[in-house]
Amino acid sequence: MTTALTTDAERVDTNAAWSTRYDEAVAGVLPSYFDLTAASAEGSWITDVEGRRYLDLGSGIAVTNVGHRHPRVTAALHAQVDELLHTSVVFRHRRYIELAEAIGRLMPWMTEPRTFLCNSGAEAVDGSVKLARRVTGRPGVIAFRRAFHGRTLGATSLTTAKAKYREGYDPLLPSVHIAPWCIPSEGWTAESALAAFDELLDLQADPSTIAAVIVEPVLGEGGYVVPPPAWLAGLRERCDRHGMLLVFDEVQTGFGRTGRPFAAEVFGVFPDVVLFAKGVASGLPLAGIVAPAAIMDRWPNAAHGSTFGGNPVSCAAALATIEVLAEEGCYDRARELGEVTIARLQAAAVGNPAVRDVRGVGLMIGVELADGATADAVQRRCLDAGVVVLTCGPHGEVLRLIPPLTISRDDLDHGIGVLVEALALA
Ligand SMILES: Cc1ncc(COP(=O)(O)O)c(C=O)c1O
Repeated sequence: MTTALTTDAERVDTNAAWSTRYDEAVAGVLPSYFDLTAASAEGSWITDVEGRRYLDLGSGIAVTNVGHRHPRVTAALHAQVDELLHTSVVFRHRRYIELAEAIGRLMPWMTEPRTFLCNSGAEAVDGSVKLARRVTGRPGVIAFRRAFHGRTLGATSLTTAKAKYREGYDPLLPSVHIAPWCIPSEGWTAESALAAFDELLDLQADPSTIAAVIVEPVLGEGGYVVPPPAWLAGLRERCDRHGMLLVFDEVQTGFGRTGRPFAAEVFGVFPDVVLFAKGVASGLPLAGIVAPAAIMDRWPNAAHGSTFGGNPVSCAAALATIEVLAEEGCYDRARELGEVTIARLQAAAVGNPAVRDVRGVGLMIGVELADGATADAVQRRCLDAGVVVLTCGPHGEVLRLIPPLTISRDDLDHGIGVLVEALALA
């Protein structure tokens, strides 16, 4: 948009021009996948400032689960903007209460769920550590190798997905212990990973010092890995035995991504605390911590809080998003489209030495390649053909497919077709 403050030189609306301005104004620490500037987006498509359209198989990193600017979501936003933008904790507001109720209904397996809202996944992670420490009176936290929990100092302390996320930030949070995540392609089985967990409790951190065990039920940034359910069940059993809270970081897996509202249901393993963010509000900043009343009621009033967390606009977007997920059958779509896509990619991988593994659950699919350079080349070919594919994994060697759950069958077929062609050249 041209404003009165824009100079003639700045009116050049090209990716290159915006990149120059970006480099001169934006903090260099902020990563971006592509040197492209978006102008608009709708459904599964993003348009850049030069008018080129891209099929979005990345959903803004697992956020636009009902697509970009779903009409139900934008209508709810317009209505909310005309009514109430902000109360902080001065007044309560209706959307916060309605959303806490709606999220509780998405967790029928939790007894008397209570929800705390904040602004980002990392904030939810930090909040859960505070909750667990207050409730158990213990300092320690166990997290898992290759996990990603966010960028605050607390969440960074639990993150071992890449060394660069931690480098230079010491001292990090003390009393954090890292156990192996059960990654089948690294040779871990439920039994061996649980044995390593038990050894950690035996040799390094007595369970009586551990407040919480925090785990992504499907490994996200660390490489899109689906664990054997027996591993999660084993963690549940150990948490019960030792009075440690089991926290599922469902920031990436939540809100239908795995074919159920939360991945806990897919695995039949139910945590004490659920963390969510990303997909909840179709792109507006919102995150939360959910736990049964028996736990939440032991977190004293005002021991935690947030100025912006659960603002009315984000909550309105979340309420509409949750309605769309149910009404448009997104849970079933994620399962069905996921199965078809995994089968197609597995068939395409046969005889292709560049593809090490194809795996996933729902529409959270990882294609592991030989190395990061190969993944970059495939990603570039897809982008040149107008398809956005993101990467993850310790060396960027995994292509991750996380399209909107509302994506049409034709669009998905087209996008996967482009990817399959790009993989054939790898
Ligand atoms: C599993 C998981 N937890 C936490 C986070 C941090 O979320 P945010 O970037 O909203 O702070 C992420 C972000 O990618 C994530 O994937």
